[in-house]
Amino acid sequence: MIISFVNQKGGVGKTTTAINLASSLIRKNHNLVLIDADPQGSATTWHSIEDNQAFEIIDHPGELTQADIKTIETAYDYVIIDAPPAVDDKVETILKVSDLAILPVTPSSLDLWSCKETLDTMDPELEALLSGKVRLLVNRKIPGTRVGREVRQALEKFDTPVFETELCQRVAYIDAMKYGVSVMQFAPGSKAAGEIEQWSQEVIALFSKDVAMEDAPDSSIATLYREETDNILFRSFQNFF
Ligand SMILES: Nc1ncnc2c1ncn2[C@@H]1O[C@H](COP(=O)(O)OP(=O)(O)OP(=O)(O)O)[C@@H](O)[C@H]1O
Ligand SMILES: [Mg+2]
Repeated sequence: MIISFVNQKGGVGKTTTAINLASSLIRKNHNLVLIDADPQGSATTWHSIEDNQAFEIIDHPGELTQADIKTIETAYDYVIIDAPPAVDDKVETILKVSDLAILPVTPSSLDLWSCKETLDTMDPELEALLSGKVRLLVNRKIPGTRVGREVRQALEKFDTPVFETELCQRVAYIDAMKYGVSVMQFAPGSKAAGEIEQWSQEVIALFSKDVAMEDAPDSSIATLYREETDNILFRSFQNFF
């Protein structure tokens, strides 16, 4: 299974969530590799701290073909790809081979707009290929805030499934990243560790039911973003800024 983390917006948590999902899956004895496809190399840097050997990372800053990824996939249960913050040929290639494309979004209207842009720029062929394979992940939610409460409501107006689990803004994510470990290693039993474990169960369930995303609404990504954002997001967030 190929799971990619994409969003042209930088800093939404692609690397943080990819690393922690990989760490959680490996703790559940899944055999996986993480491809760091971002030339910034954040995942590779994280991996090199403390010589973390939790799982294998392939540093792949240059060109990446579908064949490269498919070849790697033959040796693993899961290939997790941390994509660069862009919509370019490389990201399109990654999306084309993905069984699941996860778009982390943070509860800010600006981030949601860029998420729309990411998907709007896809060509129709890619859009058709991705139909039903995209899932949004709320990250950096600040509990107890209005914008935090309303992000799900705003996203649910879109036609793309959203993970039930929401990841909150927690210092454990930042510290774990700094020390080159997962939140489960850094702060076992913490809320951060709990939400990652819950989310990884959700991911596993998608595949173990062997339905991939087939139970998701049959949605066109372009339609979903085109039709939406104008009103809902603006209304939801206008009072926040
Ligand atoms: N849930 C969270 N709580 C607190 N901090 C977070 C959370 N998720 C991510 N961060 C922090 O936000 C910053 C950006 O996260 P990250 O590098 O994972 O984003 P990214 O989408 O991979 O960025 P880029 O597009 O530049 O690769 C990092 O400092 C990270 O520690
Ligand atoms: Mg990153």
